[in-house]
Amino acid sequence: MIPDSHAHLDLIEEETGTVVASALKAGVSPIITIAIDIPSSIAAINLAGTYDGVYCSVGIHPNDTGGVTPEDFDRLEELALSSRRVVAIGETGLDYYRDRSPAESQKQAFRAQAALAKRLGKPLVIHDREAHDDALELLTAEVHGEVPVIMHCFSGGREVLDECVRRGYYFAFAGPVTFKNSHVTREMASLVPSDRILAETDSPFLSPDPFRGKPNLPERVTLVAKAIAGARGISFEEMESRLAENTARVFGVPVEGA
Ligand code: NI
Repeated sequence: MIPDSHAHLDLIEEETGTVVASALKAGVSPIITIAIDIPSSIAAINLAGTYDGVYCSVGIHPNDTGGVTPEDFDRLEELALSSRRVVAIGETGLDYYRDRSPAESQKQAFRAQAALAKRLGKPLVIHDREAHDDALELLTAEVHGEVPVIMHCFSGGREVLDECVRRGYYFAFAGPVTFKNSHVTREMASLVPSDRILAETDSPFLSPDPFRGKPNLPERVTLVAKAIAGARGISFEEMESRLAENTARVFGVPVEGA
């Protein structure tokens, strides 16, 4: 099975049961549904409790940190402790591309979620968009290798990649790795150590080719996996084994074939 290590099931328009069944039919399971704010964390926990093969994170996305209060982080902790299906914290991080939330509130939310991940011993899912230097600096200051770090939809170049490899981070690739002009992303996907690579859809966003621009679905992680396998010069079957093993290890979830 190919796992989808990062989807937003609560943001997909189609009914979740249909989405999960269709993913399973395509050889995709489990799906980790990633939260972006408090209501989305609650929705993610409900979905993970309802459907087999669905696990979730709780967290607050850097684009949604504007009105966040300290009580919201207490609430996140309560939510994380309320269900065994919560397997990660985030997505958190920095987004300097869309400056929807002030940088300082993004950093505060990042610190609070890193602290939560450490208290609970759960991996931290990082969103880093045009903020590589600050994101790496915050990760140095707040995480110190105490919990696994997943660089979601990795968009860095060689220097950032080498630094993250040195730190033992995980790298998740999404739809952009399939785009014709994404040579750099494919090169980066070819350089990640085989025990640190993950595939994801970020659905309903980032549809891979040939669905670019359309709403995305977890089943299309197979196209992402195929593109990464192609970049690495390995078979789809070998890619599937690596993705299954890595997802099972980092999130502590069962994956068929791991
Ligand atoms: Ni996402």
